[in-house]
Amino acid sequence: MCSNRLMQLTYISKISWAGKLNPRTLADIQQLATANNYQHGITGILCYGNGCFFQCIEGDKSELSVLKDNICIRDHRHKDVRVHHFTPIEQRHYQGWTMHCLFLEHGLMSKAHKKRLTALAKFIPFSWSTEDWHEFMSIIETLGQEPQQSLAAIRFNAIGRWLSAIAAPHQAFLLVQSILLIAIIVSLLRLLQT
Ligand SMILES: Cc1cc2nc3c(=O)[nH]c(=O)nc-3n(C[C@H](O)[C@H](O)[C@H](O)COP(=O)(O)O)c2cc1C
Repeated sequence: MCSNRLMQLTYISKISWAGKLNPRTLADIQQLATANNYQHGITGILCYGNGCFFQCIEGDKSELSVLKDNICIRDHRHKDVRVHHFTPIEQRHYQGWTMHCLFLEHGLMSKAHKKRLTALAKFIPFSWSTEDWHEFMSIIETLGQEPQQSLAAIRFNAIGRWLSAIAAPHQAFLLVQSILLIAIIVSLLRLLQT
């Protein structure tokens, strides 16, 4: 029979503007979660990639309920939180992992992770089917605590995404502007030569 006390929470969410604009967002979450989770007997995993979070945490029902509200309702560093399940479990799946962070940003995965996650080469949890969920959960449960990816790379990547989000809708305009700028520079150079 399942113990009512031990619960597991799994959700996905998207990083918000507030989260993107602070280059320390991921580092802050990781630091705070590691300390808090240790103190409150919470274990689990947090994945980040392509602007999305996936988290699976487990612990005592009362502790986990408070944390659930903190994360899912009050924290504005992410948005569109979709709780997948919040259910009793018999035993911990992430025993010993106070907060294991996996960065699944394309190109930032460690070689070992890449090999095992090829089935889900792109981390886009909002488009997962039930099978994809099961597959992903079963893969990450078997991953060891491999060395962390560099948070600096993640920060850089977040800024890159932010810039591309601004530039993408205006591509044609930017292209025309660039061509005009080049034409002006060439004309000026010609004028200077004569
Ligand atoms: C994606 C995401 C995951 C988080 N995971 C955790 C976590 O596992 N443990 C935790 O204590 N806080 C986590 N937080 C932070 C909480 O939302 C909240 O800021 C924190 O629990 C407040 O802690 P405090 O009351 O000690 O200030 C997470 C935040 C985000 C955006």
